[in-house]
This record gives sequence, C-alpha cells and structure tokens, in this order.
Amino acid sequence: MDEHFFLATELLMKQAKEVRLDNQPNIQKLVMGAAASGDIETLEHVSRIFQIEKLGRIDNPAPFYKPTPEELYSEPKDEGILVGRVKNTHPSIPFFIFLAWVMSHILIVGRTGCGKTTLFFWILSGLLSLNIPVIIFDRKNDFRHFLRINNNLLVIRVRQDFKFNPFAVPEGVDPLVWAEVVVDIICREFKILEGGRAILLITIIELYKRFGMLSGSRNFPGLFDVIEALKSTNIPRNSRRWQSIETLLGRLETLWAAHEKMFDCSIGFSLDEIFERPCVVFETNGLSDDMTSVFINVILQHPYQQRLARQERGLGLRNAIFLEEARHILNPFINSNIGYSSIENILCEGRELGLGVIAAAQSINLNPAIHINSFVKICYSLGKGDEVKKIQTTFQLDDDQTSYLTRLNIGEAIVKIPSFKNPFCLEIPRFPLG
Ligand SMILES: Nc1ncnc2c1ncn2[C@@H]1O[C@H](COP(=O)(O)OP(=O)(O)OP(=O)(O)O)[C@@H](O)[C@H]1O
Ligand SMILES: [Mg+2]
Repeated sequence: MDEHFFLATELLMKQAKEVRLDNQPNIQKLVMGAAASGDIETLEHVSRIFQIEKLGRIDNPAPFYKPTPEELYSEPKDEGILVGRVKNTHPSIPFFIFLAWVMSHILIVGRTGCGKTTLFFWILSGLLSLNIPVIIFDRKNDFRHFLRINNNLLVIRVRQDFKFNPFAVPEGVDPLVWAEVVVDIICREFKILEGGRAILLITIIELYKRFGMLSGSRNFPGLFDVIEALKSTNIPRNSRRWQSIETLLGRLETLWAAHEKMFDCSIGFSLDEIFERPCVVFETNGLSDDMTSVFINVILQHPYQQRLARQERGLGLRNAIFLEEARHILNPFINSNIGYSSIENILCEGRELGLGVIAAAQSINLNPAIHINSFVKICYSLGKGDEVKKIQTTFQLDDDQTSYLTRLNIGEAIVKIPSFKNPFCLEIPRFPLG
C-alpha cells in the first residue's frame, strides 16, 4: 500500500509539474487523495486532468509564428497600451497597441461572446490614462459598466436624453458646406435619389437664409422647420417633383415621429463641450439601423468639418472613436454612389485631423473602406465558412492557421500588423470591471 501510494504520488506530481500546477495546495491535496484511495479509476481520472491541461498548454500550440520582442518593437514607437500577450510565450511577450496604430484605424472581428468588448475596455482604460479623449457609440449599453471603475465617462442615452439638431452648424464651419454634407448623409442612408436630394438641399439653404445664418446668426432651423418648409412649397401636386417631395417627407416625418423629443431643438447639446470630455458614450440602442447611421455620421462630421475649416492638421491623435457593432455604419450593401459617408471620409482622411477609428463587428462583411484603411486587424474566433475564407485572404493564413480560427478560445485572437509580416496569436485577458 505504502509503496503504491508513493509511486502514484510521484507519478501524478510529475505530471502536475509539467503543467506547472505542482505548487498549488489544492492540487497537492487532490494528488494525495487519489494516491491514498488506491483506486485505479480515480488515479486515471486525475492523470487525465493533467494530460488535458498539458494538451491545452504545450502540445497544442497555435500554428503561428511567435514574434520576438525585438521583431515586434524594432522601430521606435510612441506610447502604447498593453492589451495582452503573444500566445504560448514563456516568459510572456507583451502586446501593445500604439497610438499611431489607433490613428491609422483598427478593425476587430469575431463572433458573439469572443471578447471584442473586453478588448475595447483594455484600450479605453489605456487611452484614458494617456489623456486621449474617446468617443464611443455603444449599441448594447456595455460601456456604462466601466463607470464602476472610472467615473470620467459621460454616458448619454441618445433616444431618451439627447437633444440633437443635425442642421445646427458647428462653430467655424460654412453653413453651405454643412447643409450639403448633412443632406448627403441623410440621402445616402434613406436612399433618396438626386431629385429629392436637390429639393432638400435647396429647402435647407433657403431656411438658413431665412434664419439669418448666412450673416452669422446661430439660430438654426430644426427638422420640424424643414418638414414644414417642404409641405408649404408651391410645387404642383401632380408633378414629378412633388413625388420626390412626398418620398422625402415620408422619410423625414417618420424620423420626427420616432424621435420628436431628440430633434425638437435649435442648437441641441454642445458637441464642442462633449468632445472635450475624457470619454463620451452615446448609447444608440432604440434607434433604427438607418437612424443610427445618420446619427453617427452627423456627429462625427462635427469635429471633422471643424478641424478641416480651421486647418488643424497633423496634431497627433486627438479623439479615438469606438464603433461597437459597426455593421450598421459600415454596411457593405449601401450604395456608395448616393450621397456622402462621413465615416468613409474619416477612414480615408481622419488620421491627418487626429481622428482614429476602432471598429468591431461580428462579421467581416463590412464596407471596403474599413478593410482598406485599417492598419491593424484583429480576428477572434469565427464560425462561418465564407467569413473564414475572407479572413484567410486578408490575413494571408495557411490552411493550418485558417482551421485554427474556429478553435480560438474566448480572449484569443489573430493579429495582423503591416510592419510585421506574419500574423500571430494573441491572448487578451478578461477585463477586471470590479
Ligand atoms: N480572456 C478571457 N477569459 C475568460 N473570459 C473572458 C475573456 N475575455 C472575455 N471574457 C468574457 O467573455 C464574455 C464575452 O466577452 P465580450 O463581451 O468581450 O464579447 P463580445 O465579443 O463583445 O461579444 P458580443 O459580440 O456579443 O458583444 C464576457 O463575460 C467576458 O468577461
Ligand atoms: Mg461586445
């Protein structure tokens, strides 16, 4: 009995040591208990636990190249945010997201529950400590939980509490430029064609004149005024132009009916002040998909147009923009021949104006602008065949690596950065929200 006990203990402790669990008192107790029982089945069971642990840790390494710290951090880089480590590295090779990368935009994809929001939390906490203001569009009310550990967040329930007039012109921006941009955003999202677009633009410019805005007044017409002006036009009711107006009115009146409380204002909340806060979270749940897109596009156009008008270029990262559930705003099916997308422009030119976008989605099927313009791409576990194929091409994965995409655990992701040719596997821990 004694001999068996010592042999079994020695054997199991050897296995525990291989997976570095031998120093844990609970494991020691488990091994002693199993050895003392002398029961073969119990002994085998405990042994299997260690073998599985070993498979997970050592014998099943991700089929990816492991970059050395020198390869990852060869060029001098600016400040970085620690978000995880390269998988299976002992000692750990830390992985940082640099501000320059945020400025050149980041794309995160992965199926539900894989850890995308968790990564946002790590990045957010880093940005806050580096004093970079963050603008978040949150469809799932996830970021309000961050208030538990940091009360610097301004959380706005858009549908319930926000006052927003898309036709209010940001300080310093030419009203005619603004009118055109907002009309184009609305027409793109609501699929209003050229006839309707021209009528809407003329109507708004007329209103801007009537409200004295072309001579400096900051009393702005709101959505209600636009609807009234369209209704009172003297265009004959049986003409083709009237048909365009009817379509337009249908869209705008629906918007008004659904969001009267939000749109019923002349200036609305000061976005200048809001964007100076360390972090603003716009909770967009309850807005329809097209309204969400109009809202985000108009809000982002605010700093974009202002910085363009003021020639504020090349001042580094001034706002990080988080787009959670980005499939609405980066819809691949939208007709890019109609109207104007501020998010596409920000992805192409925002870098110069200090606007860096981090977009996350459950699917890789997104507007090509984010694929072309994101410097860093991070892919968590994906399920569907066509998605996996796309990732294989984007990340230049071999077959082994591609099949691993469906086996990634929660918190594990493949990363691709242009400055390092091989994609590699990352582990991002759970974020301590307290
Ligand atoms: N490394 C990790 N280890 C264990 N649990 C984790 C890890 N990372 C995240 N989690 C947990 O997994 C759950 C899902 O994470 P998260 O909300 O970040 O996923 P998501 O990709 O944003 O999902 P969705 O697409 O549904 O929004 C959370 O409870 C989170 O705490
Ligand atoms: Mg999420």
